[in-house]
Amino acid sequence: MLNYLLLTKSKGINIVRGEAQYVWDDSGKKYLDMNTCHGVAFLGHRNPTIVNALISQLSSIATLSTSFDTPVRDVMLEMLDHVKPKNSSHVFLLNSGSEAIEMCIKIARKATSRKKLIAIKNGFHGRTSGSLSLTWNPRYKIQFGELLTNVEHIDASQSSLSAIDEQTAAVFFEPVQGEGGVIPLEKEFVKALSEKCKEKGALLVADEVQSGFGRTGKVWAYEHFEVQPDVVVASKALGGGFPVSAVFAPEWVASKLEEGDHGSTFGGNPLACAAVAASCEVLIKDEVPAKASRMGELFKKRLNETIAQNRIVKSVRGLGLMIGVELRTNPAATLSDLQAQGVLALKAGLSVVRFLPPYMINEDDIEWAVNALARPLSKLAQTSCA
Ligand SMILES: Cc1ncc(COP(=O)(O)O)c(C=O)c1O
Repeated sequence: MLNYLLLTKSKGINIVRGEAQYVWDDSGKKYLDMNTCHGVAFLGHRNPTIVNALISQLSSIATLSTSFDTPVRDVMLEMLDHVKPKNSSHVFLLNSGSEAIEMCIKIARKATSRKKLIAIKNGFHGRTSGSLSLTWNPRYKIQFGELLTNVEHIDASQSSLSAIDEQTAAVFFEPVQGEGGVIPLEKEFVKALSEKCKEKGALLVADEVQSGFGRTGKVWAYEHFEVQPDVVVASKALGGGFPVSAVFAPEWVASKLEEGDHGSTFGGNPLACAAVAASCEVLIKDEVPAKASRMGELFKKRLNETIAQNRIVKSVRGLGLMIGVELRTNPAATLSDLQAQGVLALKAGLSVVRFLPPYMINEDDIEWAVNALARPLSKLAQTSCA
């Protein structure tokens, strides 16, 4: 039998079912899912609105070239209109975050007729060659040889903005750096970044693959920063579990693109359109961003009350339901202990326990997670005292 080429570390459990904020393993053990496949299951596992939309779409047509019109695409566009980034006039669907970033690189270069790309240190934008060039951490790329040229990484500080000049096609940023350690950027920095991009005619591209679609308490995390990026990338939560990503662009960028400039066999397929339309419906009807904001505040408050005094804990931070607990040690043992207690979370950066729960978590779930985290942390604090 073939082996699966496992390029991630096995968690050693066999998950067989998911429902809302919970998953179950093959022994029947229930877990609170705050891993959610890096944030994908933000609208919950098997959200009925999304499942029904997919079943209904499957029973009419599942695959179709984007050259043909089809009603589900119109439904999706109508729904996206309620939540789209303010300045966007067009959307293009792809299948993953990295793919969407690849497209942004191309459209930024074409729309501006410039080559230089800038990204923020500690940022993560994907693992395909172009997106990997924008990803900062050398650990992801050093062994793969030459990537894109004309790429520069700058500090998230106003003094580094002089790197943005008349040769710059685009600046990519995550409003909240996810993989890098759940680090919200400074508001003043993001505002200055936006001003500088405007001044120099460079596109500001918000990578909201992880932070977008309600998770931070607003539909788009950039809204916390009082800026309006030119291009916005969404993925993960956008399809309610169905693999899809989207690039939102304003008229002046879209109008510079011509037939054949980009394409994707699976991008924009009817199932993806149905999933996105249904996800928008859930986001709006269930007031998802407001709920994420409320539960995120409560989660952070309880973390601050319960574990922030522990000397192993460096900080508790995040926006909405994108929360990180930075430790003074590698979080691997803490994550295993959490899993044994039925709480699934994930690592970010070198020392952060990251929680990316579904929006419907309740107060009992939060208590479960906070108490589960307190246990390994107090053990760690005692051992490191001895
Ligand atoms: C901010 C950000 N951009 C891009 C990506 C790449 O997305 P994908 O893994 O779907 O290619 C990720 C993945 O975690 C991400 O967090």
